[in-house]
Amino acid sequence: MGKITKVIPREIIDSRGNPTVEVDVYTKGGFGRAAVPSGASTGEYEALELRDKDSRFLGKGVLKAVNNIREIIAPKIIGMEVTEQKAIDELMIKLDGTETKSNLGANAILGVSMAVCKAAANELNLPVYAYLNKESKTLPIPMLNVINGGKHAGGNLKIQEFMLIPHGFDKYSEALRAACEVYQILKNILKKFGPSAINLGDEGGFGSPVDTAPEALDMLVEAIKEAGYTPGEQIAIGLDSAASEFYENGLYEVDGKKLTGEQLVDYYIDLAKNYPIISMEDPFDENDFDSFAKLLEKLPNISIVADDLTVTNPKRIQMAIDKKAANYLLLKVNQIGTLTEAIQAADLARTANWGINISHRSGETEDTFIADLAVAIKAERIKTGAPARGERTAKYNQLLRIEEQLGNSAQFLGY
Ligand code: PGA
Ligand code: ZN
Repeated sequence: MGKITKVIPREIIDSRGNPTVEVDVYTKGGFGRAAVPSGASTGEYEALELRDKDSRFLGKGVLKAVNNIREIIAPKIIGMEVTEQKAIDELMIKLDGTETKSNLGANAILGVSMAVCKAAANELNLPVYAYLNKESKTLPIPMLNVINGGKHAGGNLKIQEFMLIPHGFDKYSEALRAACEVYQILKNILKKFGPSAINLGDEGGFGSPVDTAPEALDMLVEAIKEAGYTPGEQIAIGLDSAASEFYENGLYEVDGKKLTGEQLVDYYIDLAKNYPIISMEDPFDENDFDSFAKLLEKLPNISIVADDLTVTNPKRIQMAIDKKAANYLLLKVNQIGTLTEAIQAADLARTANWGINISHRSGETEDTFIADLAVAIKAERIKTGAPARGERTAKYNQLLRIEEQLGNSAQFLGY
């Protein structure tokens, strides 16, 4: 059938102007191209991106990773069946030989892993989601990050992401449209703070002119209402605190206050009481399993999403399951470095009845792989930024195409 005939890696740039890895994989009748994203608020336990140490691109080049694909990975996988995803991923893990993929680089390995999957789908003349799971018919709820704080924007707002979750619609396309309307109304509300208030952060959301979470949340609720939707019922709100970024010496600095883990639990309980929040991601530091567990115990009906806490790594996910520290997995393929392991991470989360939230990174490319992956693994939610900037809209638009392809059999996971 389809043996891999050629692997062409290269350095391209991502949405922050940083270099990243792109890979082309060829078979006789198939072709797949994939590009690797990159985070800013990265978790301590993520697989490692290999970055060059020279002064090109301020020392952030990926030529070594590209070279590792060309010299080490390609000669080994050329001639293998392109559909042997697991064998190819396992071979790369073995060739690397480290826990964190630091030898070859998780960016090198992931680029090949995703490109192999796309080439296999193309070889079989199938869309990527259908190649990965021929039963897949479900479209995830989009989570649009419309206010950017933390490391993704320039202001003082500590919570990194304020997301619209349009779950009360019949179709993905209707949900997306409603969230876009709210995004545009939010822009008008923000204009009152002056022209610079509508500047965009890394993920296409507005870099907030306000410094505290309640002020940002008030504006979101106002925008949802002004657009004619019911806050909570039709459009709810999700937060990603990325709290490791504001945790120091045992204290969390948020909204101008320094709080203990326990006080931060109460802070979130208050927010959940006052606003239609249904999802809280990384509410605490990546090692603070106890506070995660306390919050989940107090707010069992809210999605407590583990991102930096579990870094899409089955060992960390098992720890979080054992400690009852979360009920939702944030899944980022580049945190672990192969497609096979990312799917294993999702399967493990499912054994504990967790939901799955697929995610982009703050440094992205035009690659739309995660949209297909979300459909293939029946992820309930996907977050891929605001409806702005091509690398963000690329994923939302790919889901529109998938909805169209699925036609009447498409099911939206909203309610
Ligand atoms: P990152 O942010 O890509 O900068 O890590 C996204 C997130 O924290 O979910
Ligand atoms: Zn996060």
